[in-house]
Amino acid sequence: MLNNFPLWPQQASTLAAHVDALYIFLLIVTGMMAMLIFACLIYFAARYRYRPGVPAEQIEGSNALEITWSAIPFLVFMAIFAWGAVVFFKERTPPADAAEVYVVAKQWMWKVEHAEGQREINELHVPVGRDVKLIMTSQDVIHSFYIPAFRIKQDVLPGRYTVEWFRATKPGVYHLFCAEYCGTQHSGMVGDIVVQEPAQYEAWMNGGSTGPLSASGEKMFGELGCSTCHRSDAQGRGPNLQGVYGQPVQLEDGRTVTADENYLRECILDPGAKRVKGFQPVMPTFQGLVSEEQVNALVAYIKSISANKPAGGAKTSASSSPPREPDRIQAQANVKVQAPLNAQPSTSQVH
Ligand code: CUA
Repeated sequence: MLNNFPLWPQQASTLAAHVDALYIFLLIVTGMMAMLIFACLIYFAARYRYRPGVPAEQIEGSNALEITWSAIPFLVFMAIFAWGAVVFFKERTPPADAAEVYVVAKQWMWKVEHAEGQREINELHVPVGRDVKLIMTSQDVIHSFYIPAFRIKQDVLPGRYTVEWFRATKPGVYHLFCAEYCGTQHSGMVGDIVVQEPAQYEAWMNGGSTGPLSASGEKMFGELGCSTCHRSDAQGRGPNLQGVYGQPVQLEDGRTVTADENYLRECILDPGAKRVKGFQPVMPTFQGLVSEEQVNALVAYIKSISANKPAGGAKTSASSSPPREPDRIQAQANVKVQAPLNAQPSTSQVH
């Protein structure tokens, strides 16, 4: 009977057991406190009830008692805080070599694009046992990408990227919910997370791909004219983007930022906001000219020409170390940059 009435969703990711353990601990602590309070309430109500002719007795405070009931809850709360922080950091820190999947939310569907180029709607296929990082944005209102069986939930916002990650542990089909009210069909904004054995997943992956996301990004990079200014020989009017991803960037206003996905995205849509030191404000905005999917492709391409991030997601993410020098040059040769390739590409060419 309990099978038909599960108390909570299946545990299908590496995070699930950690979240559940903390949650069960909280339930036990609060449940015990509630029972203790009710027991005291009932006992004292009976024990010190009004009796005719017996005057009320004045009771003085007790330091020992007060210190005890302050110190014990303090320790319990600090334990909950520390435990919660450990689980939180685990959940908020995607492993560096995770396979990357781009998610675009809109009223009322989830559009998914794998780094290898597979596109899906309201479905996400992943292999069992691999770290997967979701890079998510919305093209209209706030949504939330919620997979109960994985115990992860993250708001998906217009105008920026948010990230969540998981490693599925059991093949199966799991619910995907939108967990942020986003309009009349919010309740219908659901989907399936399909977790497959690696062989099955490879077979699915190889069916009908349109080529890697970074390749469409590279094509767009040429078509939109990005490549005329962002040249790889440091002679362009814009910064050389090779190797820029994940590196610190010095800005004209003196700040230093890290060239993460959100920075690259902002530079495409609002180039004046964080202008790189030593460059003129000549870049036009691409706000309204490129779709969220196209921004994702451009970001994937810029990441693919960076040494510290192997091109593509899942297939190259088996090794956690950055590619060695010959591999990197090979990878750069493969993406056929418009301008002549430097003999020795340098990762420090960030101005
Ligand atoms: Cu999207 Cu609710």
